[in-house]
Amino acid sequence: MTGISSSEARYSGKIQGALLLSAIFLFSVLPARSQSPLPEGNGKQIVERTCARCHSLDTVVSKRLTREGWQATLNDMIMIGASLEKADIPMVVDYLAKNFAGESKAEVFAGVKDFTPVTQEMLLNPSPDDWLMPSRTYDWQRFSPLKQIDKQNVGQLRLVWAREMEAGSNEHIPLVHQGVMYVANPGNVIQALDARNGDLLWEYRRQMSEEAKALLQTETPQNTRVIALYADMVFFLSHDGYVVALDARTGKLRWQVQAYDYKTRGRQTSGPIIVNGKVISGRACTDDPFIFTKVAQTCFIAANDARTGKELWKFYTAAAPGQPGGDSWGNTPADKRAASPWGLPGSYDPVRNLIFWGVANPNPFTRLKRHLGNIDDVPRSSPVDLFSDSTVALDPDTGKLAWYFQQIPGDDWDLDGVHERILIRTPFNPDPNSVKWINPRIPRGQEHDIVVDAPEEGGIWVNDRTNGQFLWAEPFPYDTPAFAVSRIDLETGKTYINWDLVAKKEGDKHTVCYENQKSWYPMSYHPGKNSLYIPYRDVCVEVQAKLDDNHGASRKVVPRPGSDPQALGGIAKVNMTTGQIQRFYSAPVVGSGATLATAGDLIFWGDDDRRFRAFDADTGKILWESILASRIESSTITYAVEGKQYVAVLTREADLELRYIAGTKPVRNHHNTIYVFALPEQR
Ligand code: HEC
Repeated sequence: MTGISSSEARYSGKIQGALLLSAIFLFSVLPARSQSPLPEGNGKQIVERTCARCHSLDTVVSKRLTREGWQATLNDMIMIGASLEKADIPMVVDYLAKNFAGESKAEVFAGVKDFTPVTQEMLLNPSPDDWLMPSRTYDWQRFSPLKQIDKQNVGQLRLVWAREMEAGSNEHIPLVHQGVMYVANPGNVIQALDARNGDLLWEYRRQMSEEAKALLQTETPQNTRVIALYADMVFFLSHDGYVVALDARTGKLRWQVQAYDYKTRGRQTSGPIIVNGKVISGRACTDDPFIFTKVAQTCFIAANDARTGKELWKFYTAAAPGQPGGDSWGNTPADKRAASPWGLPGSYDPVRNLIFWGVANPNPFTRLKRHLGNIDDVPRSSPVDLFSDSTVALDPDTGKLAWYFQQIPGDDWDLDGVHERILIRTPFNPDPNSVKWINPRIPRGQEHDIVVDAPEEGGIWVNDRTNGQFLWAEPFPYDTPAFAVSRIDLETGKTYINWDLVAKKEGDKHTVCYENQKSWYPMSYHPGKNSLYIPYRDVCVEVQAKLDDNHGASRKVVPRPGSDPQALGGIAKVNMTTGQIQRFYSAPVVGSGATLATAGDLIFWGDDDRRFRAFDADTGKILWESILASRIESSTITYAVEGKQYVAVLTREADLELRYIAGTKPVRNHHNTIYVFALPEQR
């Protein structure tokens, strides 16, 4: 699992602090023999009996609410499943309001005034001022028609506001609708902010059961990469396994539906998109199918009804026997199969009514372990271990598979073919001097509706959107004998794994390329230039087979053999007609920022060394730079309020994984911050 990083504390220190303080306070005033943190009074027993079922009573005693606030909270709890006799409710409200009285935080929030519900029409054709989904439009192009900020004036950009976020792992991309920014902080703290100045309009802090917290603390941090807006609701995936809808005006819980039991070790590190009134989202199954059971059941994409939360369909990404692709796993039993859509959610083609989603590597990492010691249990060419390292095209209304294309057949190195698929209409004329693999049957010069991606394992992959037909592919960022795929059957698109690099026995060690060449930070496409702007890392991974390891291997990130240490990170501008690559920018420092393309002919991107920059979209010349407090993270968006264009970027806590790279200086922790820039007022 390469996209989820290091060891930072996930949960808000503030929440834990508050719970701890109130617990200490209460225990110190209560008689020593009492286990209950509750003061005496009518209603105490009922609260003890009903409220401790799902979470600790600390959740109750640490809260201060008005009578109305307690009434509303009880209504929420009953909706979630607390069983309170109707006749007891007034007494319980009375008890809570007397003993835990206070101003509800929620009630002092201004809320979002004059909210206009988000319609499917708006998602299909968004206002240029808004940023309603992670890459603005369903095609994931990350292109903004805004052009107030352009090549001439970008040098004057200045900070308008900044706001610190909660501590924890932060790989988020915020949304903007009519002057309000919706943002997910680490720890499932969702906020609505005034996008002009960062003022808080409402906040939702998810409370999890003590049991869930304790268990989830032992796992790698979960990210909320993406949230969604539709109707008058904000949707997110909670760390404890729910799909959740909040009221976009107030942040109050509207509904929540369990997607999976967190005890099965499923995780939700991705986020939803909304299509035709459905909340469609992927999740990460556990890395360890040889330790946990029911793993394959947590590897899925699902759709929930946006109004009610009802689950409508599920598509399993680690196919079981009897499902499409189920016979591609050889003798590996159904409950030991894992391949997850843990990364960025998919794109949507409204004409074909198809969504396109990326699926990550199979687990354990090596065939040797995955196929119970028999590396010839499955072929060396696709399809193998479906739908690992594949693009899947699904009907958003039913979840039915329309087609798939597998990039790496039976990955041996944990390379993760996950994340965004960009939809483009472009002429087909790949240059044989640049593009290694071209389908010879496709007539030159015709326009195609394509899906393109540049997954973590490297390569640029282009397929026809209608049926998945292979059009062209090239190793990327560079061609190398260590590339994971050695051959592609050009007419059929059948891919062959680089067998020389597959571990044949315990202890075998190989370097394979690439490792996180581009990860959870999406690339962008500028239609005026018919070019992709791919932020990449020229980095590989050394993998050694270890049968006693849960993953079947140990991994170490290394530079590509023969690479230039002065050019480990960069941006490639790729012509989508010809496949020609222009090295747009390169540096010894890598980045984890999304690129953003604008009609001002600018590309915004920031690196791991705190530099946030605007580049000339034609030449790559740096036109503006600002140095922030921490590493630039995914995120970058642009929007407008009252005629003024803003550019927003998030920074995150340092990620020590990257220290090996020459020139990347480790940055201090705890600088998850939102920064927003604009041009100075004209006088
Ligand atoms: C069926 C399980 C369940 C029961 C029973 C239950 N709760 Fe909850 N409670 C939850 C969940 C889940 C959350 C987190 C939901 C959220 O964050 O909005 C929560 C959150 C809370 C919160 C924090 C809300 C916030 O906005 O900070 C309070 C206070 C609370 N519960 C009080 C109670 C009281 C009082 C009772 C007993 C009448 C109770 N709960 C019974 C599941 C339950």
